[in-house]
Amino acid sequence: MRIGILGSGLMGGKLGTIFARAGHEVVCSYARSEQKLQRLASAAKGKARAGTPREAAQDADALLLAVHWSRMDDVLSQAGDLTGKVVLSCSLPMNTDDTALVVAHASSGAEELAKRISSAHFVSAFNTVPSEVLFGVFAAKRKARRSNFGPSLVYCGDDAIAKKMAVRLIRDVGFEPVDAGPLWIARYTEPFALLVAQLAYERKGGPEVAYRFQRYKKTKR
Ligand SMILES: NC(=O)c1ccc[n+]([C@@H]2O[C@H](COP(=O)([O-])OP(=O)(O)OC[C@H]3O[C@@H](n4cnc5c(N)ncnc54)[C@H](OP(=O)(O)O)[C@@H]3O)[C@@H](O)[C@H]2O)c1
Repeated sequence: MRIGILGSGLMGGKLGTIFARAGHEVVCSYARSEQKLQRLASAAKGKARAGTPREAAQDADALLLAVHWSRMDDVLSQAGDLTGKVVLSCSLPMNTDDTALVVAHASSGAEELAKRISSAHFVSAFNTVPSEVLFGVFAAKRKARRSNFGPSLVYCGDDAIAKKMAVRLIRDVGFEPVDAGPLWIARYTEPFALLVAQLAYERKGGPEVAYRFQRYKKTKR
């Protein structure tokens, strides 16, 4: 697939690299330096190149939206018309110092974004794990040569096309996709992402943390 990365920082840079290593064609875009994007693309060691947000969006089968909430207007205006594009967003609606959600309870960042780019196929994914764990999950998948039974990754959305694409990319990274339901469930997944961040950054053990949901058969008492 051709994947455009809008925001090549901790999340976009790492996921773009992994997507390229998984065999996709990747365009890395939106950073403060063109050289950084070029370095990132050549270090990905796959079919990756640097480009503008518009170039990233142009021929993309899927776009990853990975910028700070405060940069959303800017990156979307640079990307141009996203009609018919699949947009996966890992973005969280954080305030400028990343201490709180600025949209919550009665809505979510994902719902606000989906409204803003209503002509696109939108799905919320990859926002409930820290960037630090992504390479580890991918390496474990490659080592075990498995396509499932990795850590879980919840995603949600109202668009079947976008959700199908999310499943594929989530598996490519090495997670087991967990469909949490419609997009409004992002009201739950976004605060959950802050719980994971708390465990990653504020508790012992380091930020390389992921989670796994397990279902059990009903048993008699
Ligand atoms: N980091 C995580 O572990 C994590 C986990 C879950 C969800 N999220 C969410 O994912 C989204 C991306 O997070 P992130 O940690 O990847 O952010 P980040 O590291 O700050 O990356 C954001 C990207 O936007 C670029 N950017 C910022 N200001 C810009 C400007 N004025 N002009 C051009 N480019 C600009 C940055 O450029 P530079 O590279 O030049 O700085 C960077 O490439 C956020 O919404 C965050 O809440 C993050």
